[in-house]
Amino acid sequence: MIALDDIMVEIGDCHRCSLAQTRTNLVFGVGNPNAEVMFIGEAPGEKEDLGAEPFIGAAGKYLNSLLALAGLKREEIYIANVLKCRPPGNRDPRPEEIESCTPFLREQVRAIAPPILVTLGRFATQFILKTDRGITGLRGQVHITGAFSVLPIFHPAAAIYDRNKEPIMEEDFRLLGRLLAKRREERTERTVHKELS
Ligand code: URA
Repeated sequence: MIALDDIMVEIGDCHRCSLAQTRTNLVFGVGNPNAEVMFIGEAPGEKEDLGAEPFIGAAGKYLNSLLALAGLKREEIYIANVLKCRPPGNRDPRPEEIESCTPFLREQVRAIAPPILVTLGRFATQFILKTDRGITGLRGQVHITGAFSVLPIFHPAAAIYDRNKEPIMEEDFRLLGRLLAKRREERTERTVHKELS
């Protein structure tokens, strides 16, 4: 397992794919290195490319408001993307870009080792769950993969584009809140058992 700082050093001024030619900044990821919940988005947009931080544009503002429904604050979580560099015009990530970039995401997940992963949108969900299934059929349920509980949720930008998705987003963030509460309860019970034994 490599520490986050060392992963950043390893990425360096990455030129492993052609997105390096059009990006302003590489967007590594940000947040609590001991987070209980790690969010994974798709790729930086224009604001993120300029600010070198994930989810600081319109989708990020919406995400911040949804976090409150799960009882989370932005500083408690860690956020990264499938791609570290902005695809021109915010087009979809290409398979070769995903292939060259995701070893770093994998290392970030290992370094943070969060019990809960929230995958935002199709690209993050398919990468983490190693599936071709669409997000619509996967959201709303907790998927167990290895040591992780994975909760796929629509990408916030999709709900900004299609307002009909807003109630579903809210439902899924409330589900995240319940999942967190259950985990914390179980942890407390384990501690009490240990103290009594
Ligand atoms: N959309 C993403 O998937 N990631 C960001 O960082 C910003 C918008």
